[in-house]
Amino acid sequence: MRKKTNMSDRTLLLAGNWKMNHDHLEAISSVQKLAWALEDAKLDESRCEVVVIPPFTDIRSVQTLVQGDKLWLKYGAQDVSQHAPGAHTGEIAATFLTRLGCSYVVIGHSERRADNHETNEVVAAKVRAALSAELTPILCVGESLQQRQEKTHVDFTLDQLEESLAGFDASALEGLVIAYEPVWAIGTGETATAADAAEMAAAIRARLAEKYGNGMAESTRILYGGSVKADNVAEIVADADVDGALVGGASLSGPDFAALCKAAVAK
Ligand code: PGA
Repeated sequence: MRKKTNMSDRTLLLAGNWKMNHDHLEAISSVQKLAWALEDAKLDESRCEVVVIPPFTDIRSVQTLVQGDKLWLKYGAQDVSQHAPGAHTGEIAATFLTRLGCSYVVIGHSERRADNHETNEVVAAKVRAALSAELTPILCVGESLQQRQEKTHVDFTLDQLEESLAGFDASALEGLVIAYEPVWAIGTGETATAADAAEMAAAIRARLAEKYGNGMAESTRILYGGSVKADNVAEIVADADVDGALVGGASLSGPDFAALCKAAVAK
């Protein structure tokens, strides 16, 4: 594990993935409380980005609030269609998200890979759709418990990464965010140790350097996700290769998420 220094020029990213929680009215209240708590926390806004990722049906309400109150937080979506607008019932096009002011979109979350049978090929197509609409993908990768126990977790995660980015060159992937989320640590209260997160973040960065060059590897932000809370985030993001967290359960309450952001930035 290499300690982060103040020289790191990658901005810390703290993204709260609400999953299928909070309807649009609850979303307004949650974002308001988050904004107040962040103000109280006197977070150094130049040192981090705070992002909320609500369900699709909340995004317009969040946009109205963020723009109306000139909040500095950003927001995004939990998924996107691989298709351009057209006859795809139930899908949401990337350009629709851009029009709603989204900055980020989570792609390839393990819950979607499992529940919706999303393959790496589909994930790559979604990354392409997002990039072409100027959305920043937060591409999720990570191993199962069995793979971790069999010690194939690094190879599995790096293969998933490569396949989810098949066909891109370095210039197309500028700004990409990768979230390392071991499936066994999501929503279970089990957190990978800071050393586990650091090991995988370093392996991902090394693979990016090999495939796309040092410039791309050094500018890509790599997050850790899986049961991150206010009391474990500082240790996780202390590593030089870990540039923030993708947070599920602990992002649902505005004040709790603000406390987590404060703890992460304090380090
Ligand atoms: P969790 O979820 O923080 O509730 O474990 C993380 C995620 O799925 O992104």
